[in-house]
Amino acid sequence: MSAQRPVFPEFDPDDVSSNSSANRTFGEVVETRMSRRAALKGGTAAAAGFLVAASAASPAAARTPAGGGAGGGGWESGHRPTRLLGFTGVPTSTDDDFKVPDGYQIQVLIPWGTPIRPGGPRWREDGSNSADEQAEQIGMNHDGMHFFPLGAGRESSRRGLLVLNHEYVDQSLLFPDGADEITAEKVAKALAAHGVSIVEIEKRRNGEWRVVDSRRARRVTGTTPVEFSGPVQLGHPSLASENDPMGTLNNCSSGATPWGTYLTCEENWNNYFGTEDESWEPTPSQARYGVSATGGGYRWHEAEPRFDIAANPNEANRFGWIVEIDPEKPRSAPVKRTALGRFKHEGCTVTESRGRVVAYSGDDQDGDYIYKFVGEGSWRVHRALGRSPLDHGTLYVARFEDDGSGSWLPLTHGTGALTTANGWADQADVLLRTREAADAVGATKMDRPEWIAVNPKNQDVYCTLTNGSGWDNAVNPRKPNPYGHIVRWTETGRDNTALTFEWDIFLLAGDQEYDDRVDLGANIFGSPDGLGFDREGRLWIQTDVSNSVQNSPSAGYDNIGNNQMLAGDPRTGEVRRFLTGPRGAEISGITFTPDHKTMFVNVQHPGESTGAWGTPTPENPRAVSNWPDFDPTGRPRSATVVIRRTDGGVIGAA
Ligand code: FEO
Ligand code: CA
Ligand code: CA
Repeated sequence: MSAQRPVFPEFDPDDVSSNSSANRTFGEVVETRMSRRAALKGGTAAAAGFLVAASAASPAAARTPAGGGAGGGGWESGHRPTRLLGFTGVPTSTDDDFKVPDGYQIQVLIPWGTPIRPGGPRWREDGSNSADEQAEQIGMNHDGMHFFPLGAGRESSRRGLLVLNHEYVDQSLLFPDGADEITAEKVAKALAAHGVSIVEIEKRRNGEWRVVDSRRARRVTGTTPVEFSGPVQLGHPSLASENDPMGTLNNCSSGATPWGTYLTCEENWNNYFGTEDESWEPTPSQARYGVSATGGGYRWHEAEPRFDIAANPNEANRFGWIVEIDPEKPRSAPVKRTALGRFKHEGCTVTESRGRVVAYSGDDQDGDYIYKFVGEGSWRVHRALGRSPLDHGTLYVARFEDDGSGSWLPLTHGTGALTTANGWADQADVLLRTREAADAVGATKMDRPEWIAVNPKNQDVYCTLTNGSGWDNAVNPRKPNPYGHIVRWTETGRDNTALTFEWDIFLLAGDQEYDDRVDLGANIFGSPDGLGFDREGRLWIQTDVSNSVQNSPSAGYDNIGNNQMLAGDPRTGEVRRFLTGPRGAEISGITFTPDHKTMFVNVQHPGESTGAWGTPTPENPRAVSNWPDFDPTGRPRSATVVIRRTDGGVIGAA
């Protein structure tokens, strides 16, 4: 192991904290535990041993005898290769390609611009499709995704609805002439490229998948009429706006309910708002959500007053929600489920316990929080009575204690600090200002919570913390934390509705050349983001290293290569690289057919501007990547990749 070199991470503007509350950070918690260990053992060895130390306080440690050592994978995996991971790992890559292990094959499906029905408006490689055409085509920047099977038995793995998010748009690639000038038509096309796509797909006899014509095929975009449900209703004064319909935006990760609906999650919605009005100042709540005069650089407000935050301040209150879509009912309106709170929802992972629905969601900003919603009573009873289980329950925010315990703090009007006397008008007010409510009750600051996954074998919960600037007390073991880590917790009694839990660190991401606390061997990676379990309990980890640091030596990312996906064994901590993506892309979104013989993952934003490869321009949109078409006059496109084994076996298994 070489000497540790300094790391000087760069961060996206989105990743800067807007949380000025005095709440204790997760890093403070971890550092306290780490210091205790250091005092016992002294020096670097103690730091390297931290992960085992941290886990020793948790039930997880009792399940997993420590192995230690280098070269294998996670925190205690080193010399204990696992049978759960039955594939040959692939090396890191800087190629403009998508690579999978020997014995696997891939198929590119539904790249941006594909008509959602055969015979729909055809893709134009120069980016000249109109807004109306885009609204009948697959959107840009594929993210969270779920396969809803159609039919029963074997048929359920041969036909289904693939539902996927389109997180944002790269305006330099979306339009033929780039984004120097923003027009109303361009804003309309950008809105049409956001949201959700629903396509019906089937597996042909030769094993390939294709889109088929379907009455269920549908696009939900930034202008689709939506409904509000739960404590914040559309008639609420804070939502009053001239701008109906309002649609959904920045649809990042996703979830699926036991009753067969899709949850799409509004993340960095603040980026779409801005203003030229120099007299405008953000309210404290707007500032807490990162709303600013310049926004995220989309400049839509220049051509579309809906996004001028000075002229239409309430428009921003319509975003930041979990949105439920019924893929079986193409005429049904998406519904914003306000009981689940308003923040930068990365995703919404649903499980159930004792008949109740439990939904976990991270707020992806540096120093923000992890939440869960616990349904009130049986979700089946609610459904039988025609009510949404997501409209009835309690929203909680997580607090991590330094002894390895934790608790869920209710965000309920009238309890704790959230009283009328303290300025909280009602539950709608609490939910509209969820971040501030969580500040007030004493939630624990985290390093950018991204996806959350629940282990189907034991109901343990895992959350990716993608990276962070490091808080005063070194959020988690590192300050700064350029590579991220994965935390897990066990709810008391393995009951996901419980209000207490015990936690540990599953692994630290990174590169041991730069940080000797990392123990990943050849399977180095950074910035874990997408996360999901398969039915056999493999933990799939997808990465989203920012393009500002991807392949950058100054950021300590030169060995890690392009973004990737790995599989991990929760019992041993071993991780193994399963695939690598093309240049400029993140890997995000994961779902399987019921037989687990087909896996779908998304390649998002290939060809985006990067420090390592340059910047796409209208003259050369292929400057960074030309995946997947490699069309000499085309442009890179986000796409779903279908992965199968050549022998037809279960993905990831031996
Ligand atoms: Fe949309 Fe936090 O990733
Ligand atoms: Ca993400
Ligand atoms: Ca991310």
